[in-house]
Amino acid sequence: NVATSSTRWHLYFCGPIRGPVQQRTHSFTLDTSRLDGVLEQPLFQAVAAEARAQGIPAFAIGGYVRDLILGRPCKDVDFVVEGDGMAFAQAVAKRLHAEPVHVFKNFGTAMFTLRQAQGDMQVEFVGARKESYARNSRKPEVEPGSIKDDQERRDFTINALAISLNEGSSGALVDPFGGILDLDRGILRTPLDPDITYSDDPLRMMRAVRFATQLGFVIDPPSFEAIKRSAERLDIISAERIHTELNKIILTKKPSTGFILMRDCGLLERFFPEFLELQGAEEKYGIGHKDNFYHTLQVLDNVCEKSDDLWLRWAAVLHDIAKPKTKRFDPEHGWTFHGHEDKGARMVPAIFRRLKLPLDEQMRFVQNLVALHLRPISLTKVEVTDSAVRRLLFDAGDDIDALMILCRADITSKNEKKKERYLRNYEVLIQKLKDVEAKDHVRNFQPPITGQDIMLAFGIEPCKLIGDIKTVIKDAILDGIIENDRAQAWQLMLETGRKLGRDPLVGMALPVDRE
Ligand code: CTP
Repeated sequence: NVATSSTRWHLYFCGPIRGPVQQRTHSFTLDTSRLDGVLEQPLFQAVAAEARAQGIPAFAIGGYVRDLILGRPCKDVDFVVEGDGMAFAQAVAKRLHAEPVHVFKNFGTAMFTLRQAQGDMQVEFVGARKESYARNSRKPEVEPGSIKDDQERRDFTINALAISLNEGSSGALVDPFGGILDLDRGILRTPLDPDITYSDDPLRMMRAVRFATQLGFVIDPPSFEAIKRSAERLDIISAERIHTELNKIILTKKPSTGFILMRDCGLLERFFPEFLELQGAEEKYGIGHKDNFYHTLQVLDNVCEKSDDLWLRWAAVLHDIAKPKTKRFDPEHGWTFHGHEDKGARMVPAIFRRLKLPLDEQMRFVQNLVALHLRPISLTKVEVTDSAVRRLLFDAGDDIDALMILCRADITSKNEKKKERYLRNYEVLIQKLKDVEAKDHVRNFQPPITGQDIMLAFGIEPCKLIGDIKTVIKDAILDGIIENDRAQAWQLMLETGRKLGRDPLVGMALPVDRE
């Protein structure tokens, strides 16, 4: 017997919204009837029953409520209780047989995982708080408060929406800051004066951009101005928290929106100055070059249409990063960026280290793609030889498919005819890559002769000669002089050793066991 949700809204809309300057692109249909089903779920029943039993008010709050109304999937749910959140979490977990409960005393929160047929859910509880942060620190001073106190300390009105789980108002949307209207209009607005909200936690400035990009929402102009004023306070935020938001922006459908917003409000320069340097299209003697900031963003958006892979998207972000550092004007050839691919690949570790991104396989992948991103296009311009294709396959290895996605995305010419021609050439190259790989298997090249083989054949200890012989064999295979075959490679090893002044041990025929 639940009344329709609309009759249960508590709307206290505060103040007019000035005309948005950014473009709103969201296309969600708000549906508050989605709230109705929630109350029947065992989790919500258990929270409501516990609230009744303890006589303290409890609410679902934050991203879960926002996403529920927008019809977005959500895997975690936060509850606020006007009391001890940690003890409350223990009691609810017990009702649901969902122990263990992880308690974070410092933050006054507790969480557990609810195993469900439709997927695990992270459930978190916190006691409603009044809190304020000391400047230059993220450590809040906390004291118990009401639900409204808690809501006003949150980042955006759309994230401060709460659902009451209490007798008499069960299922009601508790919305003292007009979050539902902002959700409907697609506006990111802070519950308090934006200067206060952003000062409480400067990461929220990045979150504003992230939500704007993810949801296609507009940052409320006064909020945008506040970010511009406070952008440098992002410096007190850890690189891990910043890159978490940055990666979420990169993982959206159209990350260019987020990068442009970060530039416009002064956040980008705080942690990614190299990217800002891509800006500008210089002209000399009437010869210009493209603005590599917008070009890179176009490439990034193009990649996003083809792949969800975060690291391939990062490769797009960084593929031309060394262009400003390698830019020259040559009276004969105009603007050149010679070697930007190698220099760019060498810049990757410093950028990853500063942003505290992983320095292992993922970084190596990004580096490899940046280093190789010009190779495929160079192969489409000439009559391509098998040997050049083999070398590309060898150098790219398993990254070849990602590399081809990046290269196709890199065609941003506005001339449709040119674009079509380039894409056709890539099709030819892709076919050639397939043919050569089927024939020669160099994509995951394993040398047919090992260092051990060479030591055995010549009766030598580890030394430089082994590397030299291996290189000769690898080059001969890639150049098509011999096939990727152990017997032929063995023969070449013996000849090369002799040429380099080493005689093989008598009777060193090809060992049969590895044939
Ligand atoms: N929150 C906040 N300030 C922050 C981070 C979070 O006020 N710097 C509040 C918001 O109310 C937010 C809730 O805490 O809705 C949960 O935060 P989080 O899980 O990080 O974000 P979600 O809003 O759930 O969004 P997402 O899951 O997409 O990150």
